[in-house]
Amino acid sequence: MNPYILKAGLVRPPPGGEGCLPRRPSGNRRPRGCLAAIGKKMEALHTPVLLDAVMQYLAPYNGEGLMVDATLGEGGHAYAFLNRFPGLRLIGIDADRDIQARARERLREFEDRAQWRVGWSQDFFSAYPQDAERPDRILIDLGISLYHYEQSGRGFSFRKDEYLDMRIDTCRGTSVAELLARISERELADMLYQNGEERYSRRIARGIVRARSRGAIGSSAGLAAVVELSVPPKYRHGPTHPATRTFQALRIAVNGELIQLRALLENALGVLKAGGRMGVISFHSLEDRIVKNFFREQCRGFSALSGEPIGKDGPVPVMRLVNRKPVTPSAAEARNNPPSRSAKLRVAEKVLDGGYG
Ligand SMILES: C[S@@+](CC[C@H](N)C(=O)[O-])C[C@H]1O[C@@H](n2cnc3c(N)ncnc32)[C@H](O)[C@@H]1O
Repeated sequence: MNPYILKAGLVRPPPGGEGCLPRRPSGNRRPRGCLAAIGKKMEALHTPVLLDAVMQYLAPYNGEGLMVDATLGEGGHAYAFLNRFPGLRLIGIDADRDIQARARERLREFEDRAQWRVGWSQDFFSAYPQDAERPDRILIDLGISLYHYEQSGRGFSFRKDEYLDMRIDTCRGTSVAELLARISERELADMLYQNGEERYSRRIARGIVRARSRGAIGSSAGLAAVVELSVPPKYRHGPTHPATRTFQALRIAVNGELIQLRALLENALGVLKAGGRMGVISFHSLEDRIVKNFFREQCRGFSALSGEPIGKDGPVPVMRLVNRKPVTPSAAEARNNPPSRSAKLRVAEKVLDGGYG
């Protein structure tokens, strides 16, 4: 649970209703949801990141077994695996029902080998039935997809003028607009610093609170303009848009991304078959630090659940690193697929089932 949301007293019951449409004041544009695209030929927007390395490190043993794609997105990685390995079965999970509908459409030809779940993967793994077949491969490709920026209509991009929602799961939680309407300046500054490493967090928080006193900040373009006016001119004209880190921080907050990441890794490892592999792609240093430390602990032999050494006579490793250094995109991939620029892939193999239920 996100502490900022709790502190600001913003947790509300889910709105319910079919499709769980985003909260928005009436009159705001409805997103061009992908559910309307079902039945038509779907063009994928998102290019799967580090695809060759993911295929190499997570190639199923003998080309068979069960893979969980814990962040299915538009199904780019899933498509490549199902296509290359006819003996592979896959469970694809996404907390966003709209993007999952796109993936299902794209992967329709593999339906006899695939199953779908809508929800948060950390919850899926924690509720994994004891007697169910355990996966041999788990892929976690963190963050959001190009679809979210380009087509979701939920205000993820500062280049668009959309309702400021930014929730991945539109059935639960609080939109960014609602968060900004109530959060204190201090909490906001801390959030921008902790979730976005934003050096001008205090100035931006002050600017947002001032702007809010003149009227609610309800759109992505409106927020971007407030941030631009709040930062020093040299920052305004730097190589990245001055609102980049603010948008990242707020998205992370309303989706509880960093807070849930540790639970996601622990729960996934608990379910992974001994001898199986887990690959995680992260996109910023805050995520990567959590993944790196988690794998390091597991390789040194401390229980993910209790933090205690595993084994009576001291720590026994639960995992071994498959790649010592994270895989990063080649210059060509970074050029051709700019969202991949900051990606890091870490892969580890489960060597022992210790420390888990
Ligand atoms: C980077 S995209 C994945 C792209 C995908 N690998 C592809 O090639 O199309 C991440 C996706 O995971 C979803 N997501 C992020 N965190 C999640 C979580 N903890 N549980 C379930 N889905 C999550 C997002 O909604 C998004 O669609």
